[in-house]
Amino acid sequence: MKRLIAVLLSMLLLCGCTEKPQETTEPPMTVVGISQVGAESDWRVANSESMKAAFSEDKGYRLLFSDARQKQENQITAVRKFIQQQVDYIVLMPLCETGWDSVLQEAKKAGIPVILVDRMADVEDDSLYAAHVGSDFYGEGVSAVKWMESRYAKRTDSIEIIHIQGTMGSTAQIGRTRALEEAVRRHPNWQILTCLDGDFTQAKAYEALGDYLDTLPNSQDFDVVYCENDNEAFGAIEALREHGYRVGTDVDVICFDATANALRLCGAGEISLVVECNPLLGPLAEEIVRTMEEGEVPPKHKYIDERMFVQANITEELIAGREY
Ligand code: AHR
Repeated sequence: MKRLIAVLLSMLLLCGCTEKPQETTEPPMTVVGISQVGAESDWRVANSESMKAAFSEDKGYRLLFSDARQKQENQITAVRKFIQQQVDYIVLMPLCETGWDSVLQEAKKAGIPVILVDRMADVEDDSLYAAHVGSDFYGEGVSAVKWMESRYAKRTDSIEIIHIQGTMGSTAQIGRTRALEEAVRRHPNWQILTCLDGDFTQAKAYEALGDYLDTLPNSQDFDVVYCENDNEAFGAIEALREHGYRVGTDVDVICFDATANALRLCGAGEISLVVECNPLLGPLAEEIVRTMEEGEVPPKHKYIDERMFVQANITEELIAGREY
């Protein structure tokens, strides 16, 4: 699109069809189409804001933003529309890993670079995307299970875990689940009581865990609720409280993202561990576009730095300074 505009402007200049040649000295805008997953979590909302701020008009971008409302078919439709509109770049946050080959081949054929942000797409040919920037979701899961290993190091009795998964087939779910399942295989006394589908939302986690707790005898205790994001933890805490469990005392809640609300609950002792997943990926995605605009090749993969939080390292200052 940008190339098309530049050609049209120079043609206008050449045939003297414009009276104000100084207006044509403005560099053409770079048109970026973003296909976002949806707004399922506080993380996702912060991620959308970060992307919009990074690809703003004052930085020279015209942004076409599409919210797929958590449906992969909507993302595929959005990418096809971006191709028709001849955008300069497509930024895709893939809902799940599979099913992208055809549409990314179409983008490649149209000569439009695709940048993957946040999760990965599992494609046969990695030339179908120019670069990826996001989180090391498996690494996040490994951090969580390492914390569990030290927390339960002295326990020889059974460690009972309720696992609330995120959107099935997404890189975030696959990585965090894999880390937990590998740890369970390593520790004969660790046991997953149930695996629930929380789809990264507060409402689904609340409902799924509430329904499961209804089936348990009153006195049955367990040790951990491993939630694959903060919003699932918020729903889980609500369900646990309603069923008479004291969070942080009877049961450890673990989650991923580290939004201000989760840090607050961690500071209050209600969430035992929060592993950071940083949604502020806009500047990193924009840097990739800038690199390509300058004719350079961006790194194929980049992981954003992340850390983890327990009650002892939560301060008011940390929560107040949190951008999401
Ligand atoms: O892909 C990132 C994950 O997706 C975040 O952990 C979660 O909150 C989001 O919905």
